[in-house]
Amino acid sequence: MKDRLIALKNEAISNILDTSNKNELENLRIEYLGRKGKVNKIIKTLKELPVDERREMGGLANEVKNAIQTALEESVKKLHKFQKLESQWIDITAPGIRPPKGHLHLVTQAIEEISDIFEKIGFRRVSYPEIEWDWFAFEGLNMPKNHPARDVWETFFVNGPTSKKYGEMVLTPHTSSGQLREMLAIKKPPIRMINFAKCYRRQLDVTHTPMFYQFEGLCIDKEINITHLKGVTNYFFEKFYGPQRKIRLRPFHFQFTEPSFEVDINCPLCLGKGCKTCKSGWHELGGAGMVHPTVLKNGGINPQYYSGFAFGWGVERTYLMKSDIKIDDTRIYYQNDIRFLEQF
Ligand code: FA5
Repeated sequence: MKDRLIALKNEAISNILDTSNKNELENLRIEYLGRKGKVNKIIKTLKELPVDERREMGGLANEVKNAIQTALEESVKKLHKFQKLESQWIDITAPGIRPPKGHLHLVTQAIEEISDIFEKIGFRRVSYPEIEWDWFAFEGLNMPKNHPARDVWETFFVNGPTSKKYGEMVLTPHTSSGQLREMLAIKKPPIRMINFAKCYRRQLDVTHTPMFYQFEGLCIDKEINITHLKGVTNYFFEKFYGPQRKIRLRPFHFQFTEPSFEVDINCPLCLGKGCKTCKSGWHELGGAGMVHPTVLKNGGINPQYYSGFAFGWGVERTYLMKSDIKIDDTRIYYQNDIRFLEQF
């Protein structure tokens, strides 16, 4: 009986070690340890043995049972560990999956392109506060309180501190506030600034968004006149749009420039003949003019010695006037639609 028990233990353990499958292990458990299993069959014959031998063989049968049980449990544990490793297995030779790669927003691309053109002719790129005192946005630009011109800007006023000298705080409605900031910072001309900033107005339609970008050019020195303004704008437009496009200066009124102009560009679709998008053949890009003497004085510059020109145009509108850009609604810039943005 002793030999049979030991042979049974060896056979069971060897079978268990050969198995790498959960179902087969369960079958082995039933085969050896089940109610009608091989171990129990031997145990049932114990009663036929003399008392002394029965006790000894009973102990041995229990040891065999425990050994088979332990071998089964360890095999199940190993199997679990192996399955876990298998699920974490990585094929390091498989070709990788490229993560999607983003790029700069097209307004940022436009800003970079515009500033490169101006920096080549000595304009210094700056950026002034987007939350600004009323004085810089209006009053210092020759637009006293209650002046009707201020309605045009449809400004967002901010619940913030009020300054005795500078008044209330506003979200900058235009980059012209940067003119005064630059004059007061540089103090003594020559000044050649190109100021990019976000602007905010209570406007929303096909050609207007409540937040948009402007870029403001300012050039102040001795004997600066309109021909310099015309020369710089021509240079910019030729570089940005190519030689086939035309611009024109149309007389206009701004409180902070005298004389003042609106700058128009011929329509990218009909090149100035007139079509259903432009009607007249032209699109307005922004304002320009010779800096008003009062504004020079407010910026600490003596208008008797110095003169200057300034211009302020919308980045989004300037960009969509390119011949190969077919955007008919400016609001799409800020709708975060990836299908639109990834085209640029
Ligand atoms: C001005 O903002 C003047 N500060 C420009 C200026 C600067 C004149 C220096 C003289 C000297 P205007 O309100 O026209 O002007 O705006 C200029 C341009 O900003 C517009 O032609 C347009 O291109 C853009 N713009 C204005 N409002 C919006 C808006 N809500 N959404 C998108 N673009 C806008």
